[in-house]
Amino acid sequence: MHEIVPGLVYAPGYLSREEQDELVVDLREAVKQAPLFTPRMPRTGKEFSVRMTNCGALGWVSDRERGYRYQAIHPETSAPWSPMPRLALRAWDDLSPYKHPPEACLVNFYEASARMGLHQDRDEEDFDAPVVSLSLGDSCLFRIGGTQRKAPTKSFKLHSGDAMMLTGPARLAFHGVDRIMGGTSTLLPQGGRLNLTLRRVTKA
Ligand code: SIN
Ligand code: FE2
Repeated sequence: MHEIVPGLVYAPGYLSREEQDELVVDLREAVKQAPLFTPRMPRTGKEFSVRMTNCGALGWVSDRERGYRYQAIHPETSAPWSPMPRLALRAWDDLSPYKHPPEACLVNFYEASARMGLHQDRDEEDFDAPVVSLSLGDSCLFRIGGTQRKAPTKSFKLHSGDAMMLTGPARLAFHGVDRIMGGTSTLLPQGGRLNLTLRRVTKA
């Protein structure tokens, strides 16, 4: 484990191939319960290029009318989200010093052409809780900056099985995914990248 910038803790190869396979099995179940949806930007209604679902008590969603928020049900089917995968909870326990469990596990699915613009994760009540993330499938180029949008940024690759935590000075850092490197992993037969982000949403 090492810190790439202050507060960004990187654990390359955190999950073995067997563990990655287990997580994919759990995520296939999660998607049956709560299908991938395409979120839209607040106000403009522009579609994200990633598709999403969630696991856990609360899920992150976004649409034109109501913007970014957490809610207990799928925005299209109104079904509850599926339970958190075992290995997602284990990652939180292993990496996060925060005393309380995560409430949301956002699952982002990136096709080869998808990306995620620079943003802050700030829809949670307690920024003392870190954000823990797991990467599966194709590698990506991840970018991290500072707490101001114009601060200098640094990029590095995230590979299948890597874990990462944003905490302390990096908890509110701008971050995003510049591009997916298609064909870099055999984990997902159809290709693409899955990212799980675990978050504590409410103040404990
Ligand atoms: C996110 O910031 O929501 C996703 C980051 C990632 O895909 O690694
Ligand atoms: Fe984020």
